[in-house]
Amino acid sequence: GFHAVVPAGGAGTRLWPLSRAARPKFLHDLTGGGRTLVQATWDRLVPLTGEAGMVVVTGGSHAVAVARQLPGLREEGLLVEPAPRNSAAAIGLAAAVVAASDPDAVIGSFAADHVIADEEVFHAAVAEAVAAAREGWLVTIGIDPTGPSTGFGYVHVGERLDVEGAPSLHRVAEFVEKPDAETAARYVEAGWRWNAGMFVVRAATLLEMLDELEPALAAGLRTIGAAWGTPEQDEVLAATWPGLASVPIDTAVAEPAALAGRVAVVPGAFRWDDVGDWTSLGDLLAQDGARTAPVGEQVDGLLVLGDTSRVLGRHASGVVVPASGRTVVVAGLQDVVVVDTLDAVLVTTRGHAQGVKHVVDLLKGEG
Ligand code: GDD
Ligand code: MG
Repeated sequence: GFHAVVPAGGAGTRLWPLSRAARPKFLHDLTGGGRTLVQATWDRLVPLTGEAGMVVVTGGSHAVAVARQLPGLREEGLLVEPAPRNSAAAIGLAAAVVAASDPDAVIGSFAADHVIADEEVFHAAVAEAVAAAREGWLVTIGIDPTGPSTGFGYVHVGERLDVEGAPSLHRVAEFVEKPDAETAARYVEAGWRWNAGMFVVRAATLLEMLDELEPALAAGLRTIGAAWGTPEQDEVLAATWPGLASVPIDTAVAEPAALAGRVAVVPGAFRWDDVGDWTSLGDLLAQDGARTAPVGEQVDGLLVLGDTSRVLGRHASGVVVPASGRTVVVAGLQDVVVVDTLDAVLVTTRGHAQGVKHVVDLLKGEG
């Protein structure tokens, strides 16, 4: 069968102070739709897999919140990492566990913190990817880039592949994770696509790729998989996990496997956003004709994420997040970002929203 794997690990520090280590962005409703990002991820995947096919991989400090937000998630579907070991280990763990009970399983990994519109188009793309994965491909979804972002992986689309059920499948000629700005601009110019961070592959194929590319990591994952469901499961996980390499699946697997000709891409024509920072979230909400402050003058483009009655704008534009219960007034400022939470307030501009990450590093004493 097909299993959806949701690695839920990132802290999302560029969305500070709402997104915190204790409560990262996937646990928040950032779009005002009434569902948190991980719940929305669940909603769009469960029609493809059924509840029994859903797997979430997360850290011990978020397991309780995830279980509470996803009441349909089976206990066996919640994989709790003893410590963060990056995406290759998180997705590899799911592959090992799923393969232990279903050797022919195809898994698809989907980030817990992305926003996707046009669900039917998304489902059709995943269906193609699953068909190709059954034929042995590691399949990614390629998004038409809107600019030369340095925060994404880039996919050089190669020749068309002839796989039944996957009419838009192409080979990935090259996969490059997070190039510098100049290179990214060149790729966009040349028609490369963004990697949406989704990987669809037979669980057994992913483990075989890891055997070749990260043999120690693969061996550890196989040890854990072999013990899964036995009384030794937790003990083996606790003993093996700390020694696993902490590497992203993009550089550890996708880049080298693409060079070996084993990666394919399905173009994704759905609207996709990784909700990276307050500015991109503001743009996303603006597209949906989102909530503007109901009171005020000349508040054109002052987006309110949350209770609009708590925000007053005058000659103001930007994004305001009233998350403390206090009233926020923005007057005479353009393109501001104001995020008011109980214990921290962020005031910045749209142009500097990316830099919030560095401020958080400073606060943590890592800057
Ligand atoms: N459980 C768990 N544990 N999940 C993890 C861990 C971990 O230690 N580390 C990362 N993840 C999860 C994240 O929560 C996210 O769902 C996914 O793995 C990717 O990790 P990110 O840290 O968000 O990667 P990125 O955004 O820098 O880059 C990836 O996504 C881009 C699209 O948003 C890459 O795949 C890029 O190529 C891609 O363009
Ligand atoms: Mg990400």
